[in-house]
Amino acid sequence: MVKKTTRFVCQNCGAVYPRWAGKCEACGEWNCIVEEETAEAQSPQSTGGKGGRKIEFVDLDGVPETTFRLKSGISELDRVCGGGLVAGSVILIGGDPGIGKSTLLLQLTGALSQVCNAKGAPVKCVYISGEESVDQVRLRAARLGLAKANVALASATNVRDIAATLDSGEAPDVVVIDSIQTMFIDTLDSAPGTVSQVRAGGNELIRLAKRRGFALFLVGHVTKEGTLAGPRVLEHMVDTVLYFEGDRGHHFRILRSVKNRFGATDEIGVFEMTEKGLDEVPNPSALFLAERRGNISGSCVYAGIEGSRPMLVEIQALVSPAGANPRRSVIGWDAGRLNMVCAVLEARCGLPMSSKDIYLNVAGGIRVTEPAADMAVASALISSLSQIPVPADAVVFGEIGLSGEVRAVPQPDLRLKEAAKMGFARALTPVKRVNKKSVKESDTGLKIVEVGHLSALTGMFGLAEKN
Ligand code: TYD
Ligand code: MG
Repeated sequence: MVKKTTRFVCQNCGAVYPRWAGKCEACGEWNCIVEEETAEAQSPQSTGGKGGRKIEFVDLDGVPETTFRLKSGISELDRVCGGGLVAGSVILIGGDPGIGKSTLLLQLTGALSQVCNAKGAPVKCVYISGEESVDQVRLRAARLGLAKANVALASATNVRDIAATLDSGEAPDVVVIDSIQTMFIDTLDSAPGTVSQVRAGGNELIRLAKRRGFALFLVGHVTKEGTLAGPRVLEHMVDTVLYFEGDRGHHFRILRSVKNRFGATDEIGVFEMTEKGLDEVPNPSALFLAERRGNISGSCVYAGIEGSRPMLVEIQALVSPAGANPRRSVIGWDAGRLNMVCAVLEARCGLPMSSKDIYLNVAGGIRVTEPAADMAVASALISSLSQIPVPADAVVFGEIGLSGEVRAVPQPDLRLKEAAKMGFARALTPVKRVNKKSVKESDTGLKIVEVGHLSALTGMFGLAEKN
């Protein structure tokens, strides 16, 4: 027996409350709790195992049924998906409105319609838009040069209609739902985009994808805090979660996998938004270093790793005398981490950081998350303070500890190889490198300068050290 009940659900994290409250205790968000009606089974009782069927156990060792991966040929995207799409898998793709999710997925379906599926037949793609009319999507397709692509297009929002359509006839290979926040189930009273609608609609479509064996893309919009509002409740139900991020002021976009049951996480794909849609960027280091001017103090090239791929980015710092209230402003890096590096420079190397205005910028608008960028940030800061440029042919990486020691970071060989490929001649690295054997100087041709402590770094820039 089904009874309608009301409950109060946080639209940010999905926590459920019996009554309204101004603040969600689970995620700390304010004004996010909304009343929703739900149809749920009355008083869940223990089944006692009566009438249940016995399940069969098998060995761990066995041949998996499907190993085929559908490759679109857009290699940046295929790699982020773990090497192609698996039949029956569900991919949630989140990002700010206007970042390019619809464009990316339309290009993906266009590319997929050119290739063959596991059975050797042309891939059947379905694109269902709940946000744009058929004409709007057609206009975009024409702009992307995909007007002739064999993609079935529809504008719909009712999950019941969509499920009935996808369940009849021959199953498609790939289905795009753009976006899950516009979809609704007509038996639920809550508005589209609320947690119960997103959860119920997502659930139904996911079950259908598994049963019929098509790869399903669900688009979800992100709130300004960077979390998938509403769709966040889907994160644990889907196989892969991708974020499409980028800075509106810049042309490039990054597709980042944060969860993947079929491949590595933290893998990224880099794209550039042009008038003709998204272009792949096979060599991101070249893009991020394109506008670098050598021999300027306060600039340092960091050899980073994003997912499985090395990437060189320029870190810029400006240190200037402060007034009564010193300012610290960071773009593209963690502000807490900058404060830590400044505190270590002050306490362990005697540099007057607390009396300065400090601005830090990761050039190009990319966001760096690795602690391995610590030493590059420190180098940029010291260089700006001393007005002595970091050598233009040097890359820097290494994590910094609270006592000022420089710590080893993963995959130094990959970082050095990328630096050598991009024409750099020197690298400032930690002394103890993980897997030291693989980093012979002859391997890369780079001159390696090992830095054990930050005070050695200040020495290089002609600054006296205190301790
Ligand atoms: P869109 O894919 O609609 O974003 P989302 O689905 O994430 O909301 O992207 C829209 C933006 O992309 C819009 O600002 C225009 C820009 N754009 C281009 O610059 N070039 C193009 O070829 C296309 C199709 C869009
Ligand atoms: Mg869109």
